[in-house]
Amino acid sequence: MTIQVFRTVRELRQWRRSLPFEDSLGFVPTMGALHDGHISLVSKCLEENDHTVVSIFVNPSQFAPNEDLNSYPRTFPQDLERLQEIMVNGHGVDAIFAPTVPEMYPSGITLQVEEQKGAFVSVLGLSEQLEGKTRPNFFRGVATVVTKLFNAVGCDKAYFGQKDIQQTVVLKRMVRDLLMPVEIVVLPIVREDSGLAMSSRNTYLSAGLRSKSSDIYLALNKGKEQYHKGGDRDSILKAVLDTLTDDSFQVDYVSLADPVELQEVVGSVDKTTGAILSIAVYVKEDGRTTRLIDNVILQ
Ligand code: PAJ
Repeated sequence: MTIQVFRTVRELRQWRRSLPFEDSLGFVPTMGALHDGHISLVSKCLEENDHTVVSIFVNPSQFAPNEDLNSYPRTFPQDLERLQEIMVNGHGVDAIFAPTVPEMYPSGITLQVEEQKGAFVSVLGLSEQLEGKTRPNFFRGVATVVTKLFNAVGCDKAYFGQKDIQQTVVLKRMVRDLLMPVEIVVLPIVREDSGLAMSSRNTYLSAGLRSKSSDIYLALNKGKEQYHKGGDRDSILKAVLDTLTDDSFQVDYVSLADPVELQEVVGSVDKTTGAILSIAVYVKEDGRTTRLIDNVILQ
């Protein structure tokens, strides 16, 4: 199966215009270094649409100056190979959109937010808490690049993972508020056999630490057990934290939040709305620190 690779918006649009008007187009945005989590999104997209586009673009504007933009894994040849292998109901990925940075940021882009110029998209009220506390401009970067990608691709549906649950909440609000004609589909977290949520950043961990990091999911499950036993916020969070006592872990946050507004739950979870139990953990070894995130939905 040959997949077309487009590097410019112009080429992509030209191809898009050649598709029959009534055909549906599904889209999976990624930053590459593809793993089974990404592949699950692509498979669902193939299942539900006549055509599928996958983007591979490491988006500078969602990285802070102290973050891993330069070292983020870039594995285009392997990614292309993996995408070529997937077939669902006899059809595969039609096109990869892998633009350059100047193609996506015609006004240029610096990681220094106060020096940035041009158009950006902010989703207020959902971007400041949780991930946004440690990464203040992260969701502005995500919302901006996803807007650009939607404008370039012209998709009907776009597929995202629950792994980055706040990202899905922010993007759902963005398409609603900006009247974007795109349906956001959210799919479950794909995990390694140990339970660790798959992530492109897991490659930063040694085998030992990677296996130990499965405690993060174990901890979330301890919290979930508490919830099912009728536990309140404090006992749920305590169950999570009591499981993560190893010296390699430093918890950035544990949160029990409302699934739509992302406000912290006070007291007990309202069973009719449910809640998101989410966590970010710094895992440390030999002077290197990797930040991992995970979540479970309580309902
Ligand atoms: P990236 O981290 O490459 O993830 C691309 C998509 O794969 C996201 O929707 C993410 O939630 C999903 N994903 C990652 N790990 C997963 C797992 N273990 N199970 C299921 N899905 C998983 O998220 C981004 O890129 C970027 O922010 C992007 C949306 C592309 C904008 O730059």
